[in-house]
Amino acid sequence: MTNTIERLSLIITQISQLTPRIYRYQLRATSGSELPLITAGSHIAIPVTLNNGKQDFHNYSICSNPNQREFYEIAVLRKENGAGGSHFIIDNFAVGTVLECGVPSNNFHLHADASPAILIAGGIGITPIISIAHTLALRGRRFSLHYAGRSKTDMAFVDELQKTFTRNLYLYAADEHQRLDIMHVLADAPSNTLFYACGPQKMLAEIETCARMLGIDKDRIQTERFSADKSEDDKAVVLELAYSNKLINARADQPLLAALRDAGVNVHFDCCVGDCGTCAVKILEGEAEHRDHVLSDAQKAQGFICVCVSRAKSDKLVLALS
Ligand code: FES
Repeated sequence: MTNTIERLSLIITQISQLTPRIYRYQLRATSGSELPLITAGSHIAIPVTLNNGKQDFHNYSICSNPNQREFYEIAVLRKENGAGGSHFIIDNFAVGTVLECGVPSNNFHLHADASPAILIAGGIGITPIISIAHTLALRGRRFSLHYAGRSKTDMAFVDELQKTFTRNLYLYAADEHQRLDIMHVLADAPSNTLFYACGPQKMLAEIETCARMLGIDKDRIQTERFSADKSEDDKAVVLELAYSNKLINARADQPLLAALRDAGVNVHFDCCVGDCGTCAVKILEGEAEHRDHVLSDAQKAQGFICVCVSRAKSDKLVLALS
């Protein structure tokens, strides 16, 4: 999500139900003109109203082929325990709904050379992976796509993927006792393979563990997460803004970013899952508990913290903000 003023006016031109809980939305420019060029793995911020009545923007991966500019498509999973954004979209959006969206951005950086790629998707994590597969196919690159889910009924895009990527696709439906063996997939890959993955935290953590055990360099793996890591041990923290002496209380269940923005502090942000670094701010006093996936050790040592996902070990953080 972005807090820049730049917006893109889009109209919903098609809605289709892909699975019992996933809907696809086709979005075109209200002006009728071509849409901004996007790259594989891009996401777009969609305006939603949450259960608590607040207006917000939620990021959705653009799953249509990035090589055409007539429309974008997103797929929305109705989340059972979310903040309400997906319910709002599914229950309220209709063909003809006009949306003032964020301009698309991208946290995946697709390699430009001829190295082979392995794409790994779990559940709704297939959405950014589809656009990456389209781009790799267009470039004539060698790749395989491993897609796991609870059942084929719950897995969106299966028919389309089977038609388009017949020779690259491996499906794993848990109810058919098909298991994605991540260690095996990683171990079998040629040594110059690049990996792109999107899915639940558990799957991404397993990829990281297997990669570490196999000595695969972190730089060869790119991931995108659904949601931020949370812990039941999260505690409330006081945020002091060093340049205004303002004190803000962040509840245990409230991201520091949300507490800052609710208090009117202008902190920039984008992914909200610790992948992009846009929300990084500097700590002047206090100790961070880092949960991002983007800051280097040097940046952490300099005191930076990604406030969208990270928390504090100390009871208070003094931030270089006003
Ligand atoms: S908004 Fe992307 S890391 Fe915080």
